[in-house]
Amino acid sequence: MADIIGNKNAKNFSENVPFANNGNFHVKGANHYDWGMKDRLSRIFNPKTGKTVMLAFDHGYFMGPTSGLERLDLLIPRLANYADCLMGTRGAIRSSVPPTYNKAIALRASSGSSVLQDDLSRESMVVDMEDAIKMNASAIAIQTFIGADGQKETIEALNRAINLGLRYSIPTMGVAAVGKEMERNTSFFLLATRMLAEFGAQLVKTYYCKDFEKVAAACPVPLVVAGGKKLPEKDALTLAYNSIQGGAAGVDMGRNIFQSEYPEEMIQAVNKVVHEGFTDQEAYQFFQHLTN
Ligand code: R5P
Repeated sequence: MADIIGNKNAKNFSENVPFANNGNFHVKGANHYDWGMKDRLSRIFNPKTGKTVMLAFDHGYFMGPTSGLERLDLLIPRLANYADCLMGTRGAIRSSVPPTYNKAIALRASSGSSVLQDDLSRESMVVDMEDAIKMNASAIAIQTFIGADGQKETIEALNRAINLGLRYSIPTMGVAAVGKEMERNTSFFLLATRMLAEFGAQLVKTYYCKDFEKVAAACPVPLVVAGGKKLPEKDALTLAYNSIQGGAAGVDMGRNIFQSEYPEEMIQAVNKVVHEGFTDQEAYQFFQHLTN
């Protein structure tokens, strides 16, 4: 292992230089994957734009019924049409998402904690890969807590998922979760996202941060940015815009869509930013037009 003491900080990210190994495939870092992996990634990332609007509604797996997600059976049919990919648990998807929607699924496959605990960082892989195959998942999602108490077990869970995913050509989305002692700063996300990509995750979910373009440049697979806690719609659209401008390949947004007073209009505005090159201001005007 390289010395830690005396290590020089990374500084030359060439963030304005496009990724150099994409060939003619639209997903970062995926040019040399096999057909099945590319097919599943193409269900998540729109081949026309290379980007994704992922709708996250997996919060109930550790929080129970949270605001906006009281009735998945009523909510998801309103929003699914505007999402490229649905991110949820197998229980939520099997019970409440009609298979006729034929949407890309990012299947939450790690668990082990609940809001009743102080430390949420201990999760393991709890979904069999065979069940992910039966659900026709386009990716499985594993939460990983770099730097937290649960680091080792979540890294093991992620690598287990990646090993099994490679066997069946199912991408693994490494989720860069932030432990309670960790700061949401650039150096943390540089470390966590790069580690997850180097373990072999084919896509990484992260949070937006200062100098996000450096984080995106240093990560050789696509980043999707979580929305986080509910913001005013204008600010959430700015978050989406800054993420895309900074090099994200999409958003994985939950509360900023389903906790909006106008969730259908909000997800359409997010689509404008992600897929149609709208600025945050243009997207907010579009949102206001739809809601007035
Ligand atoms: C939460 O446990 C999940 O990982 C969510 O999928 C993630 O945080 C994205 O949802 P939100 O945009 O609400 O943060």
